[in-house]
Amino acid sequence: MSAHPSSGTPMPAEERPAETPVRRDPAAKRQHLDVCLYEDVEYRKSTGLEHWDFLNDALPEVSLEALDLSCSLVGRRLGAPLMISPMTGGTPQAWEFNLRLARVAQQFGLAMGVGSQRVALEDPERARFFRVRQVAPDVALFANFGGAQLVRGWGVAEARRAVEMIEADALFVHLNPIQEAIQGGDQDFRGLAGRLESLCRALQADGVPVFAREVGFGLSEPAARRLIECGVSGLDCAGAGGTSWARVEALCARSERRRVLGERFAEWGIPTSQSILNVRRVSQDIPLIACGGLRDGLDVARALALGADIASMARPMLLHANVSEARLAAFVESVLTELRVCMFGTGAAEVRALRGRVFRGVPAV
Ligand SMILES: Cc1cc2nc3c(=O)[nH]c(=O)nc-3n(C[C@H](O)[C@H](O)[C@H](O)COP(=O)(O)O)c2cc1C
Repeated sequence: MSAHPSSGTPMPAEERPAETPVRRDPAAKRQHLDVCLYEDVEYRKSTGLEHWDFLNDALPEVSLEALDLSCSLVGRRLGAPLMISPMTGGTPQAWEFNLRLARVAQQFGLAMGVGSQRVALEDPERARFFRVRQVAPDVALFANFGGAQLVRGWGVAEARRAVEMIEADALFVHLNPIQEAIQGGDQDFRGLAGRLESLCRALQADGVPVFAREVGFGLSEPAARRLIECGVSGLDCAGAGGTSWARVEALCARSERRRVLGERFAEWGIPTSQSILNVRRVSQDIPLIACGGLRDGLDVARALALGADIASMARPMLLHANVSEARLAAFVESVLTELRVCMFGTGAAEVRALRGRVFRGVPAV
């Protein structure tokens, strides 16, 4: 069942407009937000992270108070290895969300990404609804656009505009073939790798790192290898177990046919735990952001222990930001407290020391 863009209440099939790709609908971004806020959009399967137990250290040579959560990303110092994943922008409502997210990112020294800037590249009037630098001067900020756009002729000029538009430190190129297939959006990804390679080369010359990211279906080993060969500066391996983008698209579908297709693929995706391991099998040192289904500080710590450098959350940040900025700040505080306790309990004095401090445990009954 789809939802009314503004209310989140179910929209009968006969009221839905004729089939159009969701991205081309100006209301689509708002609809994504509303569906993610008010509908059941999560995978039924898990990230697989719960199968990993921490190596409890009964004699940790560390002080909980003195633990160091700081780390660096794209040339910025972070207060903690936590990121607010790209979600939105381009409308007054989306801007309000991003401003709340950005203020909290500034408060805690988190990294942050804005949602796809395609709408603002097509309609510059919307650019102001992506800008958050005024409230987040020190945040490691990522611009964002879709890899599919590279195939359609976008390239270095658009990428530079996206970065300049928000004074970003880096660019996310998101890759979402399954989402595009369900939307009826861009379905020809031929030649994308070559274009990505040129883009990486040009932006690197500008001093702007390009990170490729899945939106929540995970990265396989071959995909990670090819992306690294393209010259990306880092990866976000967003995997399955949290927000299911096939389920979101089913709920946003403009036709029964697309709704059924989305539902069919609702469980498609490499779980986040496996997605992290896949990337680390290919490269031990490529900067790696983990995302997809991380819901608390223990998930964050497990992702870091499996090999991620930074853990990132989308929907939980949105849900808390929707209540208030104070609620979001309290949530981040709790996540960081849990992360600290995991570090203390495994004897990891700094973030990097967490790596490897898990073992494949006994599944919970
Ligand atoms: C409302 C919403 C909008 C999103 N829009 C984008 C986007 O424009 N670009 C992008 O790269 N990812 C986008 N994502 C995907 C998230 O960044 C993330 O990869 C995914 O939701 C999995 O993380 P989660 O389980 O913590 O939600 C969006 C997520 C949400 C919840």
